Amino acid sequence: MSIRDQLQSYASLRLNRKPNPLVVDALKSMPFRCGRALDIGAGALSDTRHLLQAGMTVDAVDTDPLTAKLAARLGHPCLNAMHEDVRRIAIPPAAYALIVAIHVLPFLPRVECSAIISAIINGLADDGILCGTLFGVRDGWAGNRALMTFVSKSEAASYFTHLLPIVFSEAEYDGIDAYDRPKHWHVFRFILRKPSRPAPTQA
Ligand SMILES: C[S@@+](CC[C@H](N)C(=O)[O-])C[C@H]1O[C@@H](n2cnc3c(N)ncnc32)[C@H](O)[C@@H]1O
Repeated sequence: MSIRDQLQSYASLRLNRKPNPLVVDALKSMPFRCGRALDIGAGALSDTRHLLQAGMTVDAVDTDPLTAKLAARLGHPCLNAMHEDVRRIAIPPAAYALIVAIHVLPFLPRVECSAIISAIINGLADDGILCGTLFGVRDGWAGNRALMTFVSKSEAASYFTHLLPIVFSEAEYDGIDAYDRPKHWHVFRFILRKPSRPAPTQA
C-alpha cells in the first residue's frame, strides 16, 4: 500500500473519533462489562478504546496497517491487534463475550459475509453479545459496488435467527461518507444476544 493510500485509509480519516453509540449501548446491555471482545474492522480503534476503558480484553483485527500502528502507540496490555483480513483468522469458538462489527461486514462479498457471520456467531460465548451493522439494498453504494453486500430486511434478519434481538433497527438518510462525499445511507443496526444452551437433562 502506498503512503498516499495509507493517508487515505478509513482509520486515518477517523482518528480520535468517539465510540459508536451502538457499541456504548451494547456494553450497557452486558451484566458484566469484562471478558474478551473482538473488534472486526477496528479502524482508528475508537470502539476498541472504549471497550478497553470498560475493562475488556480486546482482539482488534483490520487489514489497514494503520490500525496496528495505532494499537502499538496505545500500548495497552489488554489489546491484541491483528493486521489481518477477518476472512483469514480462525475465530475461536465460544470465546467472546462481545463481538463488534461496525460498518465492516458490507465490505465482504455476499458469500463470505454469510460465512463470516456464521463464524462470528460460533465465536460468541453463551450470553455473548454481537453488535454490528449491515447495509440495505437502497444504500447509495448498492448499484455500483458489486463486491460488497447489501441486504433486505428479511435477509438481514435471516442471518441471526438463533440470536435474541436487543436492538434491530433500520435507518435511511442522506449524509456523507468518510471522504465527505454525499451518500444515501440504508443501514441495519443490531445488538443481539446468543442464548445460553439449555443444561443437559439428566436421564
Ligand atoms: C468503514 S470502516 C469502519 C471502522 C470502524 N469499525 C468504525 O466504525 O469506525 C471499515 C474498516 O474495516 C476494515 N476492513 C475492511 N475489510 C476488512 C476485512 N476483510 N478484514 C478486516 N478488516 C477489514 C477497513 O480497513 C476499515 O478500517
